[in-house]
Amino acid sequence: MALKPIVIAVDGPAAAGKGTLARRLATVLGLPYLDTGLLYRAVGRRVLDAGADPRDAAHAEAAARALQPADLDRADLRGPMADMAASAVAAIPAVRAALLDFQRDFGRAHGAVLDGRDIGTVVFPDAAVKLFVTASVAERARRRFLELTARGVAADAAQVESEIRDRDAQDANRPVAPLRPAQDALALDTSAMDADAAFAAALALVRERLG
Ligand code: DC
Repeated sequence: MALKPIVIAVDGPAAAGKGTLARRLATVLGLPYLDTGLLYRAVGRRVLDAGADPRDAAHAEAAARALQPADLDRADLRGPMADMAASAVAAIPAVRAALLDFQRDFGRAHGAVLDGRDIGTVVFPDAAVKLFVTASVAERARRRFLELTARGVAADAAQVESEIRDRDAQDANRPVAPLRPAQDALALDTSAMDADAAFAAALALVRERLG
């Protein structure tokens, strides 16, 4: 029997550093990487571009079904508008359903590291390793503020923190696939870690779990 491809789920709240960590894990383990947040961002962007409201379920579902790979390469998928639009479309069950097969097919083909909010709970409940990466709100806001200013985007620290709190609340309180750790997830609080330390800690957890 063929070996089952290895799937690693990396979930957690906004700006916890999941993306950087998951990408590095994928490189070291030789697995494909998928940033599932980009799918929701691309759907939100399509809805905004059409001049519609990202909370409009029919519009958002149509946008999810029409998603093309090139949509994921767009440069305008980040920023406060794109963040909130992604979080809004992500609360719509039909949007999540439309994106599910793509995520599962991606992981099943050759194994993968996927980062998101519901990878360990919904998309791959049988993932070989599940990490739940967190950091305090203050620390996540500090990192996001530095990231924005490094990119030359004018940002207000208090506003960045308040947007992160709003997005946490929206992602954690939605009825469908809310942000929460899977029962068998390994928690990694990176509040006091830099990116290298967080990566080293994550790799140690993965190696321990994979044996
Ligand atoms: O990881 P991110 O910040 O790029 O995700 C953007 C939004 O998409 C986030 O606010 C919630 C949503 N999302 C989701 O609901 N499920 C996922 N697996 C990934 C992202």
